[in-house]
Amino acid sequence: MPTFVIGSTADFRSRPLTEVSLPSGLELAVVHIDGELRVLHGVCPHVGGPLGQGELVEGMVVCPVHGWPFDPHDGRTPMHPYVRVACFESHEAEGQLVVTVADPQAIEDLSSLPEG
Ligand code: FES
Repeated sequence: MPTFVIGSTADFRSRPLTEVSLPSGLELAVVHIDGELRVLHGVCPHVGGPLGQGELVEGMVVCPVHGWPFDPHDGRTPMHPYVRVACFESHEAEGQLVVTVADPQAIEDLSSLPEG
């Protein structure tokens, strides 16, 4: 599974939310919550807002475009029962945050609203 070093954990811990763009074009949102770092897909599954430019409000990542909130623990939103943003495994190594992207197609699947 591909892994990516995406930056200093100290930097990510210095703010609640950080936008990261990988060279592949994959956008991420790194969330600092309850002393932990969590990594979400950075593209809102509603209509594509930049989640990394949003806010962390009462434990939820709030999209800056229309304000949908997403739980950084499981990616779910109270706005729609079938929509969630992909969450990625990550770990710290020598002061850097390393993210594992298991299946890029899964991001597309999770980010698509159902038809109808
Ligand atoms: S694009 Fe994120 S809430 Fe609409």
